[in-house]
Amino acid sequence: MKAEVVSMTADNLDMEAIRRGGDILKQGGLVAFPTETVYGLGGDALNPQASMKIYAAKGRPSDNPLIVHIAEFDKLAPIVAEVPEKAKILAEKYWPGPLTMILPKSDLVPQETTGGLDSVAVRFPSDRIAQELIKAAGGYVAAPSANTSGRPSPTTAQHVEEDLGEAIEMIIDGGQVGIGLESTIVDFTEDVPVVLRPGYISLEMLQETLGDVRMDKGLIAADSKVRPKAPGMKYRHYAPKAKLTIVEGSLKEEVFAIRQLAYEKSRQGVQVGIIGTNETVEFYTHGLVKNIGSRENEKTIARNLYRILREFDEEDVSEIYSESFAIQGIGNAIMNRLEKAAGHCRIPASVLTKEQKYRKIVFVSNTDTCRGPVAAEIFRHQSLDQEYWIESKGMVVLFPEPVNQKAEAILKSNQMTLEGYTSRPFTEKNLNPETLILTMAQAQKEKILSEYPSEYTDNVYTLTEFTGETEEIPDPYGQPLTAYGECYEKITLLIEKLAEILNSFTKGGQ
Ligand code: TXA
Ligand code: MG
Repeated sequence: MKAEVVSMTADNLDMEAIRRGGDILKQGGLVAFPTETVYGLGGDALNPQASMKIYAAKGRPSDNPLIVHIAEFDKLAPIVAEVPEKAKILAEKYWPGPLTMILPKSDLVPQETTGGLDSVAVRFPSDRIAQELIKAAGGYVAAPSANTSGRPSPTTAQHVEEDLGEAIEMIIDGGQVGIGLESTIVDFTEDVPVVLRPGYISLEMLQETLGDVRMDKGLIAADSKVRPKAPGMKYRHYAPKAKLTIVEGSLKEEVFAIRQLAYEKSRQGVQVGIIGTNETVEFYTHGLVKNIGSRENEKTIARNLYRILREFDEEDVSEIYSESFAIQGIGNAIMNRLEKAAGHCRIPASVLTKEQKYRKIVFVSNTDTCRGPVAAEIFRHQSLDQEYWIESKGMVVLFPEPVNQKAEAILKSNQMTLEGYTSRPFTEKNLNPETLILTMAQAQKEKILSEYPSEYTDNVYTLTEFTGETEEIPDPYGQPLTAYGECYEKITLLIEKLAEILNSFTKGGQ
């Protein structure tokens, strides 16, 4: 069976297609449809066979209950045994919308739909296409997210087609969804309402409306013995094919750590993916970098998450590293889904970065047109265990100048180049705890120490000194090409030593 795909928008409903979709559902068939959260895989919620079909199509364990979707308030009463006062308040405030409530079920709802539980999950989506389809189907549509079990939930009809195109009758394409993460689930079967799955409607919003609301303990303590109460939350759901690791720390530490991880893995020939943000993507130099959106706009991040995980699958990435996000508001839902996609694999950024004192190496010469930039270029070609920011600076740079032609000629004969490079002046900003400053001659070191009385001048050495040598690097300026060649050889020896020393630091030798 190949699913028929029909397209429509909320403003331009194709009522004929919706009627046909409704008929398919009434006859026990399956129709995928958009909601404001993610695409749903619909079946008649009151028909046990339809629920069984849903489990089979998704490849989902049948102890994992389905959400019953309604499209009119008065459809709630018949499927529940009672509606607690607080649930009424919440329904009034957030329905229709991205909120699912767990309530004691009535006999009308078959055990197949609730995975054998005595409670039922109910949601009234705000999406107009969803509402019309639910009404056309008779009022009750069971709908899990329309993905194959274990894959990221679908946020477009194309995602649904990839996963279920061969297994269901119809897919309604309503474009990309608005929210991108599944609804917030609130359990009303206990005295205090409990959030079983965080979503767009945040804990803070719920507490503002209801007062005391708790987070399910099984969600907070992911690796403890406490099981999440929503059966679906215990699975390694939303999982990309690649191994996903969340790196946690201050944003700066996260970027450093991910840079380093991506660098190491790429050197081993591993295809790496990175989930970065507007604020950070420019800092990543290795791996396939995806911008999930601005940290200023978490709604965009939520909407992009599943799409990006799916894209990585297609690009055959085998290791993904993600930055982490603040656990408040919708950030809570973002981190919850990321952690599930990662199978709770998180590493603190500090573990990766604390051994590495130096992250930046600045080579300093007089004019930054010859020895300094050449040293930087040779260093860039070394086999380094850690990725460094590598720069060169000059003590006397009045305006940007290109690299000395003879120096460039020597580099070219060694398969390197500084074409397009222009000199830049040394500034006080170069002095900081994570930057190693290596001068080409003693004079520049002295100048830095005298001009910049700073607590960071500890990190200033001559290249000769740092590598344990004694002979200074000759200045070839004004001499024939051979002198430049000799200078190049000398610098190369020192740089190779430098690389060895720095690599011994990252191996924990410091
Ligand atoms: O946004 C959504 O809720 C989407 C769209 C399609 O509406 N649907 C969705 O359904 O995410 P699904 O099946 O992927 O997730 C339903 C979650 C599962 O974690 C399930 O265990 C939990 O709800 N659940 C359903 N009934 C429950 C019940 N009676 N008690 C506790 N958890 C329940
Ligand atoms: Mg799901």
